[in-house]
Amino acid sequence: MSGPHDIIGQPHWRVDGIGKVTGSARFGADLAAPGMLHGAVLLARRPHARVRSISIDAAKRLPGVRAVLTAADLPAARCFGTVVKNLPVLVSDRVRFYGDALAIVAADEPCQAAAAAQAIEVEYEDLPGVFDPQDALKPPAPELHPNAATSELQNVCARHHVTKGDLQAGMADADVILERTFRTSTIEHAYLEPEAVLAECTEDGGVRVTGSIQNIFSTRRAMSEVLKLDLARITVKHAALGGSFGGKDEVMTQMACRASLLAQATGRPVKMVYTREESMCQSYKRHPYVLHYCLGAKKDGQLTAIEARIVADAGAYASMSPFVTWRSTVQATGPYECAHVSVEVLATYTNNVYTGAMRGFGSPQVNFAIESLIDELAEQLKIDPLALRKKIIFRDGSITSTGQPLPPGVSLDQVLTRATDRAQWTALREEITRDNETRTNGRRRGLGLACSYRGVSLGAEGVDAAGALVSVQTDGSVLVSIGLTDMGQGVSSTMALIAAEVLGIDVSRVKFFPVHTGRVPDSGPTVASRSTIMGGQATKKAAEKVRDELLAVAAEPLGTPAADLRMSRGRVVSGAGSQSLPFDEVVARAFAAGRPLFAFGWHRAPHTSWDEKRGCGEAYFTFVYGANVAEVEVDTDTGRVEVKRVVAVHDVGRAISPAMVRSQVYGGVVMGMGYGLLEDYLQEQGVPVVRNLDEYLLPTLMDTPEIDVDIVENPDSAGPFGAKSIGEPATELAAPAIVNAIAHATGRRTLTLPADLETVLLGAPLRRPAKRAAELARDAERGGKSCGL
Ligand code: MOS
Repeated sequence: MSGPHDIIGQPHWRVDGIGKVTGSARFGADLAAPGMLHGAVLLARRPHARVRSISIDAAKRLPGVRAVLTAADLPAARCFGTVVKNLPVLVSDRVRFYGDALAIVAADEPCQAAAAAQAIEVEYEDLPGVFDPQDALKPPAPELHPNAATSELQNVCARHHVTKGDLQAGMADADVILERTFRTSTIEHAYLEPEAVLAECTEDGGVRVTGSIQNIFSTRRAMSEVLKLDLARITVKHAALGGSFGGKDEVMTQMACRASLLAQATGRPVKMVYTREESMCQSYKRHPYVLHYCLGAKKDGQLTAIEARIVADAGAYASMSPFVTWRSTVQATGPYECAHVSVEVLATYTNNVYTGAMRGFGSPQVNFAIESLIDELAEQLKIDPLALRKKIIFRDGSITSTGQPLPPGVSLDQVLTRATDRAQWTALREEITRDNETRTNGRRRGLGLACSYRGVSLGAEGVDAAGALVSVQTDGSVLVSIGLTDMGQGVSSTMALIAAEVLGIDVSRVKFFPVHTGRVPDSGPTVASRSTIMGGQATKKAAEKVRDELLAVAAEPLGTPAADLRMSRGRVVSGAGSQSLPFDEVVARAFAAGRPLFAFGWHRAPHTSWDEKRGCGEAYFTFVYGANVAEVEVDTDTGRVEVKRVVAVHDVGRAISPAMVRSQVYGGVVMGMGYGLLEDYLQEQGVPVVRNLDEYLLPTLMDTPEIDVDIVENPDSAGPFGAKSIGEPATELAAPAIVNAIAHATGRRTLTLPADLETVLLGAPLRRPAKRAAELARDAERGGKSCGL
């Protein structure tokens, strides 16, 4: 099929494909340098304690040990953070969670470093901890951060609200009021590649860090404060990344700082690689939420009021909690018309693992709650869930709960129609309902639906701009660099495709450079599903500048004004198509004429705003829309849920690469399925119970259902060729669609995630047995990591 574009929308090879498939791609753990040492970290392995003393003498005397450093050796700032600077590189006097680190070691061999870390003697005074985010707000819970108290509450990490209309009036107007409390679990990112960096001192007194770093510019900023070095003397490069999902941000910044400190102390390159256990207990997670909702509606289904009071467990440090919870606040009411809204989200500090960015970023929790509620409302009003949604969804001209008129292109009706058509919703739902009526027990089937709207990019969270460089070489091959990271999601291919489209050449001629702080301007973090829209616009602008140079050069030999020329299939072509010149020849002419074939593109996002006091604003410059339908089979004797099929329909504006959009949706659905049915990073009194992927239940290929993806394209003027987002939208709908399908099958709602066997069978999760108290206590004594990995 050939559309208006030669490259966009067509099949292609991934530019990183050969390296990944042949094994020649170099990940953080593959890096090496002459004279390299190995780093290790001493973790506290207790949730809350005062540090009485640290003695490194015995550790220093061990064979192969080149440096042992504690917080006392830090030259400047000990803590960093994008929003609140309270995340320590190393703790000095107080441990606030199990994964806090006290010391770092560099040695000749990894085992020597690990042994030395264990030989560090620390005297602790254990303190009572707080492990429930609601308890944390009042004494006797300890105060974890002295500056996080308001007049009436303590341990407040973040607090946001959205207020629209008059909640009381809306509730008074309701015929039906539903009040429910939902709970979600703590989620591990489970990127396949654990954290790894190589730090080296540079000739100019600076440092260079290469590794599995998602956000190289925020890492560099923190390194500059911690190491007391100019930004210009720090280089952060990324190696190939084996997944991140929002997870390789602060944990990598800590690692980059620690490895750099060891490199500076020894004058030798230092490599640091976490084991899976170290990764799982140190790295931040997705927030568990407690969501209390009250929803009012008329008999015909029109919503009159939505109230949501949400508490998020921020864990020990702020990380991205203020931003994650802000997105939840904005999206808490789902994509539904409602005149009266009051939402409040509070994130509190506890002695649990800290929580931060993870794919979805505050949406999976609220989507589960609101989509469950809308489904239950349909049930109570005896309206089909699809019919109810069609009645109340946002449409062009709708105003969101934050008072923002939605930009044109609200396609909820379209994605809902497509998803339910593909799933044969009406016929299948009726068939299943009838079929279930004839069964009292055994296997029952269910069909469930969920939809969402999602703000694209950072929105009013912060500065939203990105840059790209496009450089055409004298032979017509092309270099592309951007300030955003490929974590496996495919941004390198997306940018190469965009540059190739603008220049009318085959993508095989484009070479993409992995992001590097010295090569491109600070383009913000690679988060919020912003790389296609922001990086894509920057790349398109840069490529267009070079294209315009080339067209100007071609105008004379072709005897056609530049305005009537275009680039297509490796040639510069006149409007009528009668005249053309090969791309390479035009490039050679341009070079001979001394024209610049190197350009910089910069894209700043359209205006957004937020009034924190009034709880309203234009939160995001544009939105995406999606719908999932899930078909499940529930074994009512065991509570086991088998997902048979998921239909996922997303409006991405324009699919630069339909194959990569699909791959995002496949992965997103499976991740959402894990959230819905399996995953829970369990902690007992702040001590992680789940230490590795053998105990953390992730869905695998064996659990993966048929996933039917359909891409809707309503080009958005805010995006390159109309493209918007898919990374996070892809993962935020499977869980609610699945729990709604479970309710259809069993007639009982699941208010707690994951919908594991006990929850589905008994209606609530079992209290977890304190099965391993002895094991955990031993663990705390043991300290550092074991050897022989
Ligand atoms: Mo992402 S969760 O916005 O890194």
